[in-house]
Amino acid sequence: MSFSSRRQALLRSLSRPLVLFSGGALSRNYPANTFPFRADSNFLYFFERPEPGSAALFDPTDGSVTLFLPERSLADALWHGEVESFESAKARHGVTQVLEVEKLEAHLSTLAKGRQLDALAVADFKATQRARHVTGQELQFDDPGKVGRGEVLDAIASLRLAKGPEELAEMRKTAVVTREAHVAAMKASKPGVTEAFLNGVVEGTFGRAGCVPAYETILSVRGEVLHNHGHENTLAAGDIVLLDAGAEGRAGYCSDVTRCWPVGGAFSPEGRDVYELVLKAELHAISLVKPGARYRELHLSASRVLAQGLVDMGLLEGSADGLVESGAHAMFFPHGLGHQIGLDVHDLEAFGDRVHYRGRQRSTQFGLAYLRMDLDLAAGMVFSIEPGVYFVPAILRSPEFRERFKGQVHFDKAERFLAMNGGRGFGGIRIEDDVLCTATGAEVLTAAIPKARAEIEALAGQG
Ligand code: GLY
Ligand code: MN
Repeated sequence: MSFSSRRQALLRSLSRPLVLFSGGALSRNYPANTFPFRADSNFLYFFERPEPGSAALFDPTDGSVTLFLPERSLADALWHGEVESFESAKARHGVTQVLEVEKLEAHLSTLAKGRQLDALAVADFKATQRARHVTGQELQFDDPGKVGRGEVLDAIASLRLAKGPEELAEMRKTAVVTREAHVAAMKASKPGVTEAFLNGVVEGTFGRAGCVPAYETILSVRGEVLHNHGHENTLAAGDIVLLDAGAEGRAGYCSDVTRCWPVGGAFSPEGRDVYELVLKAELHAISLVKPGARYRELHLSASRVLAQGLVDMGLLEGSADGLVESGAHAMFFPHGLGHQIGLDVHDLEAFGDRVHYRGRQRSTQFGLAYLRMDLDLAAGMVFSIEPGVYFVPAILRSPEFRERFKGQVHFDKAERFLAMNGGRGFGGIRIEDDVLCTATGAEVLTAAIPKARAEIEALAGQG
């Protein structure tokens, strides 16, 4: 769909005028020193290459779209180069009119003609403050219940959840760059190399391709720390590197991929068993993807594969069904199978369970409670499939879990994994791909990134 068709589709489903904000660049210390500008994803979905500090009014009564842009000044041309005129912006975007954002409140009071306005909260708190002011709504970005009115969230989510060919084309491009980064990091992984250096290899590869990291790169030999951003360790033989990194392209679309490999080029016997098990669970979950399949069932089915494998390894005891029902498998697989991916790496996560559970209730059981979505899959959805097995001291030594799962988890055997690598522990292994649900099954957008064990072992440290 073109940007203009997306705006028309949104207008058809709104009952009130809606104001969207792009947000501006966020400061990293003093006000003028900012992080690179990244527009709010909802704005980015409706406008190509938006400017910081923009807003837009969608009016369903007359089908108009008014774009609000910062007034042009000589200083802009001096500091930022030639800026397109309001006339060119109007033509480029194909909107009804372009007005000054500095006078947004005055323009809105004329255009609204007394009607109640809707808006969405965004990461930029100044824009959210303005959204609150023009709507009188109690909007808040970090509370899914307050990010916007439910009807607006549903209207936008129903457009953004199923990706069109033009969106998939962007995600295929970021998958290529993400492959380059993962392979480069695999090759550079020799004993003595630091995580910080490898992180530079990954993010340098993104940067050379005109991309940025879609999220803070997780790169560590302590893969059991799920969001480990420290990059403080030095690689040693016996370590397993976990890299969870994805590129984001100029259009804002993301990849989200995890691969693991052994420093020194060969997994230990335990590493090999865990790697093969996680891969088996991942491939199994991918094989279940088709329209109508319930994502929670994929999670549970992959969990049963992991549970059976952990029984075979002597870490769990009992039937796979019983272990997954009680949640004992979550001692080793404590998170959910995955999440939607698109303009956000956890696509539309700011809209909360209203969108990702759609009337269903999220479980409170440890492990399952972290499942980020419980939707019936539909053609066009892109989501991650990312099972893992981890040896987390805080979980495996929790007195509460040791009591609850004493007949099902062999904590003594788990201790042996925690003692590996000179006491640093086994770590964790996760394998993650970005999967498109097609009319008949799955297409793995990130399939070209090596994951067969022999291929990974052959690449590790060979740079
Ligand atoms: N890529 C990190 C995550 O999915 O949480
Ligand atoms: Mn992910």
